[in-house]
Amino acid sequence: MTSSTHHDTAPSAPSAPLKPVILERFAREVAKYPEAGKQSAVMACLAIVQQDEGYVSLQREREIAEYLGMAPIAVHEVTTFYNMYNQHPVGKFKLNVCTNLPCQLRDGVTALVHLEKRLGIKMGETTADGVFTLQQSECLGACADSPVMLVNDRTMCSFMSNDKLDQLIEGLRGSVKGEAA
Ligand code: FES
Repeated sequence: MTSSTHHDTAPSAPSAPLKPVILERFAREVAKYPEAGKQSAVMACLAIVQQDEGYVSLQREREIAEYLGMAPIAVHEVTTFYNMYNQHPVGKFKLNVCTNLPCQLRDGVTALVHLEKRLGIKMGETTADGVFTLQQSECLGACADSPVMLVNDRTMCSFMSNDKLDQLIEGLRGSVKGEAA
């Protein structure tokens, strides 16, 4: 299976300006804070863009920075600090495997390598069918449950032996086929 990696792709062409409906949602978030603290809405604005477009491009970071009166680098720092923000398009299922030291000592890397083989992609890549993106993750706060992973930033999966990983992948693939049927 071929795969795509997003690390070496050229910056995408500028997209259309933010839609009015998105700007309205920004305004509702900003209204929750005093004028002097409107930058506190940055995470919400990033989440709104990601929900709408699947990821947060550099262009969108700049637009959010301008909207909130922030330096673009300050917005970029937020986007790059939190794993949940996608800086590139990702697959339908984003699999984040924890490989921090405590997990490394308890098969975290084994799980990552197993998924790489199983999906035919390397860490950071997306399968050619656009279903899976595989990423490393920082500590997910469940070191005792290693190997652990997070699916789409929400669903925590613990004690992920190779068998359980296989079952998970099959289940997720099956859900995609079910949707297509
Ligand atoms: S190091 Fe992996 S969950 Fe903490």
